[in-house]
Amino acid sequence: MADYLIAPSILSADFARLGEEVANVLAAGADIVHFDVMDNHYVPNLTIGPLICEALRRYGVTAPIDVHLMVKPVDRIIPDFAAAGATYITFHPEASEHIDRTLALIREQECKTGLVFNPATPLHYLDHVMDKLDMILLMSVNPGFGGQKFIASSLSKLREVRQRIDQSGYPIRLEIDGGVKVDNIRAIAAAGADTFVAGSAIFSAGRAEDPNRYNTVIAALRAELAQAK
Ligand code: DX5
Ligand code: ZN
Repeated sequence: MADYLIAPSILSADFARLGEEVANVLAAGADIVHFDVMDNHYVPNLTIGPLICEALRRYGVTAPIDVHLMVKPVDRIIPDFAAAGATYITFHPEASEHIDRTLALIREQECKTGLVFNPATPLHYLDHVMDKLDMILLMSVNPGFGGQKFIASSLSKLREVRQRIDQSGYPIRLEIDGGVKVDNIRAIAAAGADTFVAGSAIFSAGRAEDPNRYNTVIAALRAELAQAK
């Protein structure tokens, strides 16, 4: 079986109890913390910044933190996230005037890089930077909100990116973000994804009073992944 990673998006967590939510979801078997940063400019919503990332590290979170920047401009905030303990820093090519420079800046800060593609963003942005990428993130919804429906054409885009990664020979992760659920994760994996962001599917699963609800949903996601080809 491929090396599949599950990355709960804390956008759908209870922010009033964020440390506990993150600890619980990791204890339930999640691999990576997906951290959505929105600026009410590049996307029409406003969320969390480096202070919260640092607070999670101080709370004791040691798992990788996957910072998904939906902000414009990008560069100014990268050193702050690196200092706050980010593991991955991914950004949208449309939000950077100099993509190569932004990728270099992320690696200089000793973080892993990633480029994020909106549903209608063309893949040609990958043409000259494969050697500078640790992750490619395909959005399967338009960025800005959790709980949206998976856009079906993302599956063929995933297959295209999977081919590009395999041909490149670089160990680049292929992450999918938006509308990932128990009932579609198997098809998404079969199309080539290896890293799965899930926000509402995880944090809204089951009954709030059930202490095992995160274990149950993560086990269900993994059971589907075990059957993916
Ligand atoms: C959307 C964010 C996603 C979002 C996914 O802009 O990038 O990470 O939280 O939420 P779900 O899994 O609910 O579609
Ligand atoms: Zn995201």
